[in-house]
Amino acid sequence: MLIHSASQLLTIAGGPQRGHHLGELGIIEDGAALIRDERIVAVGNTTDLRAAYPHEPRLDADGCVVMPGFVDPHTHVIWGGDRAMEFEQRLEGARYLDLLAAGEGINATVRATRKANIEELVAQTRSRLFRMFSHGTTSVEAKTGYGLQTATELRLLKALLALEDESRLDMAITFLGAHAIPTEFQQNPQGYVDLVCDTMLPIVRQWWEVHAPGRQLPFVDVFCETNAFDLAQSRQVLTRAKELGFPIKINADEFDNLGGARLAVELGAASADHLVSTSDEEIVLLGASDTVAISLPCTPFGLAQHEYTPAKKLLDANCILALATDCNPGTSWNESMQFVIALACRAMKLTPAQAIAAATINAAQAIRIADRVGSLEPGKQADLLVLSVPDYRHLGYRFGTNLVKQVIKKGRVYSVDVGYYRTA
Ligand code: NIG
Repeated sequence: MLIHSASQLLTIAGGPQRGHHLGELGIIEDGAALIRDERIVAVGNTTDLRAAYPHEPRLDADGCVVMPGFVDPHTHVIWGGDRAMEFEQRLEGARYLDLLAAGEGINATVRATRKANIEELVAQTRSRLFRMFSHGTTSVEAKTGYGLQTATELRLLKALLALEDESRLDMAITFLGAHAIPTEFQQNPQGYVDLVCDTMLPIVRQWWEVHAPGRQLPFVDVFCETNAFDLAQSRQVLTRAKELGFPIKINADEFDNLGGARLAVELGAASADHLVSTSDEEIVLLGASDTVAISLPCTPFGLAQHEYTPAKKLLDANCILALATDCNPGTSWNESMQFVIALACRAMKLTPAQAIAAATINAAQAIRIADRVGSLEPGKQADLLVLSVPDYRHLGYRFGTNLVKQVIKKGRVYSVDVGYYRTA
């Protein structure tokens, strides 16, 4: 299929973009892309590709922007219940970390998730993934972390594998058994850390070999934060995970700085995520490393806080900056990377071009799939978006409505704005 007549085709070619290289979109005016068998074969100017491939079926982009599908590299997309009441309590003055310490917050969702059977979890998560896809996300990271006991965590892993099978999205799965101290361990937090390290991680390792044979091991993540896991406990979890062969990630500096970003660099984590209260010294370390800095601007926005990831400092330090939704029921129930981009432009002063690259090629790098997706280059997977706009800057400039007209996933076309949508 030849997609042609794009006002701008954003190739975002050349690999992950560090520091002030962020935002190099590789724009082809009057652009075209040739797709065969789920892959991109060629990109170029419409006149040239029409002449080179005169007999291909055609898709007229009709003056719209064509770009790579969004990659959302940090979500907690699978959970039971909701926390609408907590949202109201927080607006009235309750503090997130106090609720967490009191066995509410994440633990409220843990109670609802433990009660839900796998069919209920799959059904609720399916609709979130559907919204992500229709808003242009073609690859997503998905964390467990609302089970916090072996059986429920495995149920979440099983549900995520089933959801990836049935959905159009590519999924990178993350085991987040160390998301919070479950209520039954409130008096013995170290006992829970030991359980994660000595029991859960080895079980997940074996379970994965049986249920996802041949597939790369999931990431292991930890929430390094006041009232969650301290630095020593985070180190214990990630070190054990590494020993077992898992790639690792960390939630660091969302509220308080416990040293998680430094730990991420020291242990070679694929990403360090949140990075709101990160020190200048740690930003320099991140910039000198291959650990991707994932910013989650919907989280402070969702919490009505005013501090965001210091994006300019990260770029000055040469970091690989990525963006994600952090879709979760507590701090950021948002499925749209378009909204993340709009927010990053305003709250973090990224340009639309920088935010777009952070939401595509750099986001792919954060979950180690940048060799397959995140840009439009020959050989890459044919995951593309046709946006109903003439200029890429409409992403960022506009917000709150869906600008995606068509999602092309592995070469198949799904129309979004005419209401027709294939789910099976
Ligand atoms: O990103 N950092 C870890 N977890 C979530 C909160 C999840 C919740 O409150 O349910 C976050 O903000």
